[in-house]
Amino acid sequence: ADVPAEIAETADFVVVANRLPVDKETLPDGTVRWKRSPGGLVTALEPILRSRTGAWVGWSGVPDSADNPVVDGLQLVSVPLSAQEINEYYEGFSNATLWPLYHDVLVKPEYHREWWNAYVEVNRRFAEAASEIASHGAMVWIQDYQLQLVPKMLRMLRPDLRIGFFLHIPFPPVELFMQLPWRTEIVEGLLGADLIGFHLPGGAQNFLYLARRLAGQATSKGTVGVRAKFGVVQVGFRHVRVGAFPISIDSGALDAISKSKKIRDRAAELRRELGNPRTIMLGVDRLDYTKGIDVRLKALSELLAEGRVDPRETVMIQLATPSRERVDSYIRMRAGIEQLVGNINGTHGEVAHQVVQYLHRPVDRDELIAFFVAADVMLVTPLRDGMNLVAKEYVACRSDLGGALVLSEFTGAAAELRSAYQANPYDLDGVKDAIVSAVSQTPDEGRRRMRALRRQVLAHDVSRWAQSFLDTLATVNETTTSENRG
Ligand code: ADP
Ligand code: G6P
Repeated sequence: ADVPAEIAETADFVVVANRLPVDKETLPDGTVRWKRSPGGLVTALEPILRSRTGAWVGWSGVPDSADNPVVDGLQLVSVPLSAQEINEYYEGFSNATLWPLYHDVLVKPEYHREWWNAYVEVNRRFAEAASEIASHGAMVWIQDYQLQLVPKMLRMLRPDLRIGFFLHIPFPPVELFMQLPWRTEIVEGLLGADLIGFHLPGGAQNFLYLARRLAGQATSKGTVGVRAKFGVVQVGFRHVRVGAFPISIDSGALDAISKSKKIRDRAAELRRELGNPRTIMLGVDRLDYTKGIDVRLKALSELLAEGRVDPRETVMIQLATPSRERVDSYIRMRAGIEQLVGNINGTHGEVAHQVVQYLHRPVDRDELIAFFVAADVMLVTPLRDGMNLVAKEYVACRSDLGGALVLSEFTGAAAELRSAYQANPYDLDGVKDAIVSAVSQTPDEGRRRMRALRRQVLAHDVSRWAQSFLDTLATVNETTTSENRG
């Protein structure tokens, strides 16, 4: 990477993530547009960057692009990836090795040495770009599973920096992590950070065990708390802190937007467009096999067949953002989901009334909020999910205390959203019962649950998440870092 001289070493705060917050899009007439990129990482970090000045290092979403635009006051620094690197580093090692390995091996992870080599090479390029843009003594915050080698690489280039790392997906059980042929390199890569954050204490604890076992470092033994009681790994003269920081959303902003007349009107209009059904169920996901979209469709299909849900009074809307469309497991999963949708509509639908409404495209923010306001039952049924921001977004949009949340136990959010209708996604009868309870709750019961959920989500928003992580990062290795700063 070559950061232009006029912006070199200018940023005091640097986010490094595989993706920039916006994707580059070139229109047929050649003009360039930047549009918001998919996923929870961008949803969470974008409001944080808007409230501070800093730079964001990442990939533009297309091959070989080296633009460094300023978008909405934020300096973007592109790390160009060739078509082959997109194939081997992004689709390969990141999304066909690490993603399934870290999500309970729902799909069999593939281990290829060429993919690993590409991962090392691209991580080196991200580390170089970060080292070129960061000012002396800057704070650099590296994000997610695609960049686990960057902390160590960056520390070797720039020992003056304060380096944080946050993992947005689950950190797997030790027995699964041990499959990885490059397990020691990954653990040592992460240990280059001053602070390593996970969503849940369990992930932090798994990592501490592996630091002891694979990297041979001395570690603290006590249990890790939430935003408190951090673990410590001693790496030479450095203390690496390890903690749990459950991520969140800009709850206040969603709450405010969802109350506007425009959104209320659109939500009412949506219900009319759907033929005024008694119950609107909603799913909102990237089209990913971890999300359990098949689980909720199978549950609905059985409930319809058993007569426990009336097809004339019910609509299920599934909004699915296209994702990682060239990875085999995603191609197969999409076909399976679309078959299930067709099956339900073919069996239970009418010409003028489809039971399942399925959109394979992202919808814009305001429209999504109107869907949340309109939905009587929100279905969040992942087989494994680091957090799941959609569950929190739904709750933030329900100031009317209406609606009900059905939530998989295997999301990070389940640890905080205790008043949801929780279910084990592998237990189809349990999921069906949770859906029926949510559909038939009394208004009083619904309000009681939603009030409790909203207390949690409004008090723990994304600025609190970032503040607690960055405050902790600011105090690690005070002495060693200031010595390096000279
Ligand atoms: P992940 O990061 O795995 O995609 P999250 O639930 O944590 O899952 O975050 C997903 C983000 O993407 C949320 O902010 C959600 O609102 C947004 N999103 C998901 N599906 C859609 C969709 N079909 N249209 C618009 N936004 C979507
Ligand atoms: C999850 C990951 C992010 C990723 C996002 C979208 O949220 O944790 O790192 O950016 O999904 O996936 P994509 O592969 O399109 O970047």
